[in-house]
Amino acid sequence: MAHPASLLADTVRKAVVDAFGPEHAGADPAVHRSAFADYQADVALRLARAVKRPPLEIAELLAQKVEVSGLCSEVRASRPGFVNFTLDRAFLERSVEALARDERAGVPRAERPETVVIDYSAPNVAKEMHVGHLRTTVIGDALARLLGFLGHRVIRQNHIGDWGTPFGMLIEHMLDIGVGATDELGLFQFTEFYQAARKKFDDDPAFADRSRKRVVLLQQGDAETLALWERLVEASRVYFRAVYDKLGVLLEDSDIRGESAYNADLPGIADELERRGIARVDDGALCVFLPEFTGRDNEPLPLIVRKRDGGYGYAATDLAALRYRVETLGATRVLYVVGAPQHQHLAMVFAVAKRAGWLPDSVRAEHVAFGSILDENRKMFRTRAGESVRLLALLDEAIERAERAIREKNPELPAEERAEVARQVGIGAIKYADLSTERIKDYVFDWSRMLAFEGNTGPYLQYAHARICSILRKANETGIALASDLLRGQVPEGVRVELGEPAERALAIELLDFAAAVDAVGVALQPHRLCSYLYELANTFTAFYEACPVLRADNPALRDSRLVLAAATRRVLATGLGVLGIAAPARM
Ligand code: ARG
Repeated sequence: MAHPASLLADTVRKAVVDAFGPEHAGADPAVHRSAFADYQADVALRLARAVKRPPLEIAELLAQKVEVSGLCSEVRASRPGFVNFTLDRAFLERSVEALARDERAGVPRAERPETVVIDYSAPNVAKEMHVGHLRTTVIGDALARLLGFLGHRVIRQNHIGDWGTPFGMLIEHMLDIGVGATDELGLFQFTEFYQAARKKFDDDPAFADRSRKRVVLLQQGDAETLALWERLVEASRVYFRAVYDKLGVLLEDSDIRGESAYNADLPGIADELERRGIARVDDGALCVFLPEFTGRDNEPLPLIVRKRDGGYGYAATDLAALRYRVETLGATRVLYVVGAPQHQHLAMVFAVAKRAGWLPDSVRAEHVAFGSILDENRKMFRTRAGESVRLLALLDEAIERAERAIREKNPELPAEERAEVARQVGIGAIKYADLSTERIKDYVFDWSRMLAFEGNTGPYLQYAHARICSILRKANETGIALASDLLRGQVPEGVRVELGEPAERALAIELLDFAAAVDAVGVALQPHRLCSYLYELANTFTAFYEACPVLRADNPALRDSRLVLAAATRRVLATGLGVLGIAAPARM
C-alpha cells in the first residue's frame, strides 16, 4: 500500500524529469506535511540554481505538470517556490479503509531489502551493565525491530567484551574464592567480584604474577584455563539474559558473538595489512596511519592493530568483526549502536577497512551514536555512592513506580493484570524516554517525567491506545455489531469511512503518514521521529474525539465510520509502539 507522501514524491519526481530532463531525476522532491495545504514539495527551491529559473516559476510549472488525478483535489504553487497539495477526499477515505484492514497499518515492505547487521548492547563479561548499555540495548532493539518490520534481513550481533588481560586476574580470583562460589554468588554481584580481583592484583605481587601467567595460558588456549574462562562467560550470559528478559528485547544467546570469536582472525588481519603496506611497525606496534585523522600536533593518528607486547586490541577485533559481517554474513549495511565517545575509533576502523577492501563501497557502515544519561544536576547518572547504577534494580524500580501509578489511576484493575500492565508501562516508560529524545543528545533521567500520563511519554501513548480499546469495548457492549469485528482487528466489507468533518480529515491524514514516519526512521535511524509522530497522532485523535461524537453520532453509518477511524488509530499506535519495542496493553 503506497502512502500519500511517497505517491506525491513519485509524481513530483516524474514532473521534474518531464520539465527539466532526466539529468534531474535524482533531485529530492522534498515532500512533507504543510501548514498551508496537506503536503508541500520544496524541490523548486532546490532546483532553482541548477536550472537557472526563479523558484516560483519552477513551482508553477511543476504544479501544472504533476499527474495527481485521483490523488489530489487541488495543486497550487506559492511563494517563494512551494508546490502545495490538497489530497482528494475520496482518496483519503478509501486509503484509511485500507489501512484499517491492513495488518501492517499501511507500511509497505522495502522494495530493495537489505541485509542489515546491527551491533548493539555489547556488555562486558564479569561486569555489570550500566546505563550506557541500557541506551545501546534499547535503541539497537528498536532499530532491529523497525528494519525487520520494513522487510530487511536483520542480523543482530551482540559483540560482548569477553576477552582481554583482565581475565587473568578474574580467573585467579575465581579460583581463590572457589569456582562453585561464583555460580552461587548469583554472579549479579560482578562489581564486587571485579573490584576484589583488582584490589588483590594491585596489593599482592604474587597474585599479580599468577594473573599474568594465567593470561598467557588463556591466550595459548590451555584447556583448563579456557574452561574456567567459559564459566565466567556463562555466568555473565545468565545475567545478560535476566536483563534482556526484563527489558523485553529480541537479543538471544545465539546473537552473541563476542570479541573472543575473532581471536583466530587477528594475526591474519595484521599480516595482511602489513604485507599490503597499509600498516607499518612504529615503535614496536603495528599501526595504520590515517592522514584524515590528526591529533593535537596535526600528526596523523595511528590505529593500533597490534600492540608492542604482541597483543591485539579493540581495533583489531573490530576490523575482524567488520570483515566477518561483510564477507560471511553478507551485510549490505552495518550499524554500530555505540556511544558517541567512540566516534573516532569507529571512523578509523571504517577507514582502514575501506583501504583494505573489507568494506566495499556497496556496503554502508554507520555509527549510530548516542549521548549520555544524566542525573537532575546534569552530571553522569550514578548512584549516590558514585557507582554506576544497577540496571536490574533500575528496571525493577520502574515497574514498582508504574504499579503505584496504575493502582491510583485504575483501582479496579485485577491484581494479576495490574502486575503485567505495570511491567509493560514501567519498561515502556524507560524505553520511550530514551527513544523519544534525539539520540545524539544527552538526556536527564527523570522518573516523574517519564512516568507521567501526560506529555510525550510512553504511558501517555499506551493510555491513548487503551482508551481506544475501551471505546471499542463499550461500543461492543451496547450491541454495535461492527465493534466486535474491530476488536478482533477486522473491518467487514462494505463499511465506509466518511471524512466530512475537518477533525476526521486531519486524523485520516495523520494515520496515513505512519508509513512515512517509519520509512524515515529506517533511513536516518532516529527513533525519536517515530515517537513524535505517535505523540502527534494521539493528540490528533483526542481532537477528533472531542469534536466528533462516536457512539452518539447522527446516524449509524457515521458512527461506524468513526469507529473505523478509532480502530485504525488503535492499530497504528499498537504497531508503532511495537516497532519501538514497547507493549500496548488493552487496558491500564
Ligand atoms: N563492550 C564495549 C563497551 O562496553 C562496547 C562495544 C561496542 N561494539 C563494538 N563493535 N566496538 O563499551
